[in-house]
Amino acid sequence: MALERLRSWWFRYWVLPRDRRKYKAMSVAETFSTIYRTKGWGSDGGQFCSGPGSWGPVADRYCAFIVDFIAKNQIGSVVDLGCGDFAIGKRIVDGSGVRYTGIDVVPELIEHHQKNSADSRVAFRCANIVSDDLPEADLYLIRQVLQHLSNDEVGQVLRNLSNCSKALISEHVPIHPKSINLDKPHGPDIRRFAGSGLYIDQPPFSIAVETTWEWPLGDDSLLRTCLVDQSAMKQASASERQPAQQA
Ligand SMILES: C[S@@+](CC[C@H](N)C(=O)[O-])C[C@H]1O[C@@H](n2cnc3c(N)ncnc32)[C@H](O)[C@@H]1O
Repeated sequence: MALERLRSWWFRYWVLPRDRRKYKAMSVAETFSTIYRTKGWGSDGGQFCSGPGSWGPVADRYCAFIVDFIAKNQIGSVVDLGCGDFAIGKRIVDGSGVRYTGIDVVPELIEHHQKNSADSRVAFRCANIVSDDLPEADLYLIRQVLQHLSNDEVGQVLRNLSNCSKALISEHVPIHPKSINLDKPHGPDIRRFAGSGLYIDQPPFSIAVETTWEWPLGDDSLLRTCLVDQSAMKQASASERQPAQQA
């Protein structure tokens, strides 16, 4: 118990600040390329691993929920923003038959998918969702991506989505957060390590959302998925941003 507390203290007050300084000095593309190259989210034997969120019961339930959502809402095309290792995307394509475009900021990851997984229904594109134009689709998925970005970058992604039809946005958040939307630089960590989480329906984002699906991740956190429609996105792009807390 004492050892566990010591490890968590060491992580929070030594590892986390050191890594944050390192990644803050890099661009978003350099940051996530480095994370994949150094196996920063672990390894499952493949060249790219997006971390434990891509497998296990939560991944099973999430994919089943999305496949059902696609069928019920007559979705013909999906763009997966921050598609990562494509473990989740592949299951959605196989389960639904939807036309799928995976987007990620890491060029070597996109080249790998384009070579190994693209076909007539499945394509990949390298883009930074903070600043680049996004392809059209009936539905956008953003799963465990925004939680790795700063509040300023999250705001820019939400504004970039202002012409999108519908988005399902999923974040790993604490059940009882000590604070909301505590700011952090982009990187492998998430706000939960400081007892916070990303809630796009709260300031400084304040977007109207419908919480459509939640699944527990351990005792103290959950994967929360919100549906955002086009009118809410337009409201986000028009609204003035409010100041955020600093980590
Ligand atoms: C934790 S992984 C999640 C992958 C996948 N969505 C999943 O749920 O398994 C986050 C992914 O978002 C990508 N990403 C982060 N910021 C991005 C940005 N600004 N533009 C495009 N992709 C981004 C990272 O490269 C990484 O592949």
